[in-house]
Amino acid sequence: MRIVSGMRPTGKLHLGHYLGVIKNWLELQSSEECFFFVADWHALTNRYTDTKDLKDNIKDLVRDWVACGIDPTKSTIFLQSSVKEHAELSLLFGMITPKSWLELNPSYKDLKFNLYFQYVRDFLLGKGIKVDEELLKSTIHEAFYYKKEVDFESIKSKLLDTGLKEESVSDMIQNLTEGEIGKKIDTFGFFGYPVLMASDILVYKAETVPVGEDQLPHVEITREIARKFNRLYNEIFPLPKALLTETSKILGIDGRKMSKSYNNAIYLFDTPEELSKKVLSMKTDPQRVKKSDPGRPEVCNVYTYHTVFSSKETVSSIYEGCKNAQIGCIECKRTMLENLERFLEPVREKRKSISDDDIHRILKSGKDRAQQIAKQTLEEVRNCMNLWQD
Ligand code: TRP
Ligand code: SF4
Repeated sequence: MRIVSGMRPTGKLHLGHYLGVIKNWLELQSSEECFFFVADWHALTNRYTDTKDLKDNIKDLVRDWVACGIDPTKSTIFLQSSVKEHAELSLLFGMITPKSWLELNPSYKDLKFNLYFQYVRDFLLGKGIKVDEELLKSTIHEAFYYKKEVDFESIKSKLLDTGLKEESVSDMIQNLTEGEIGKKIDTFGFFGYPVLMASDILVYKAETVPVGEDQLPHVEITREIARKFNRLYNEIFPLPKALLTETSKILGIDGRKMSKSYNNAIYLFDTPEELSKKVLSMKTDPQRVKKSDPGRPEVCNVYTYHTVFSSKETVSSIYEGCKNAQIGCIECKRTMLENLERFLEPVREKRKSISDDDIHRILKSGKDRAQQIAKQTLEEVRNCMNLWQD
């Protein structure tokens, strides 16, 4: 089975990435033909204003993958932008993709929603205003989600209700509508995100695409594009299927979803000191105040980490000890930390051994392998579309 998947180079990998994506790739690479690529063009769709870290992020991502065990002798590891056929196919797919497929794409709305949400939240936090995230989310959701245009007036009036000054709210709304945020992703490139993604997948005629749930709409558009192409010209593309990777149950150290923007992530390459600081500051069962209070491991994030990184015996003894108030949270965290460290230590060491030269070599040989197939597909595509061949 041929598998294609990619990740945008947006910074260091954290445990959520490992458990949600990489672990799955590791299993696949042992039995399937895998193409894993760094989606640097996709990173540009919403980060085109700030590209100074792009090269470093690409290197970091490849280094992280290889340190985690993605093996360049088993999988083809390459950079999207070095196989130009992705771009050519994307241009051709653009010809046959109706705008409406892209406008209705829920991921497009989600990304926009997140940008608005983060902007308003950071604005309020910057003013020293405590934010009820759920309330803010629903305010923006209402103003935005089921409407064609964003209803900025309703956001504004809800914010004024919370006692904010007219002046500062107006400024913010103006920024939203006219400034960076509103305009930033109203670009051709961002709009065409799924078309490029369809090309990434179909240029290798992949049958299976391991992705998280958030990417399902994109895979759906990929299938639509393949179907339409096959109908118009020739049956050359398979209809790829998404292989849903389980979203990681592991939460950030504050109990929210693990994310760089929440500042709550445990990175794969945190130093042992950083790791220990983070683990010891993790939120536990809020009802357990004293050691003599029985705890509820089922609602405790530290316990969830145990279920991933500790042995079966440890997990059940933690469960009992917590329920019966026999172990303290600090002790429980220390045990978890030891097991997490045992998992991360070898990965950290391996990472140190991968030089920039190694990365260039890996990407070069991956490019050669990927391009060979991509070239063949483009020949076929040009042929059946009756394009000029020189
Ligand atoms: N959009 C994906 C993400 O953000 C990355 C991606 C780009 C991808 N092209 C792809 C994933 C093709 C799978 C297949 O996670
Ligand atoms: Fe969580 Fe462990 Fe404390 Fe129980 S003992 S509440 S599992 S940290």
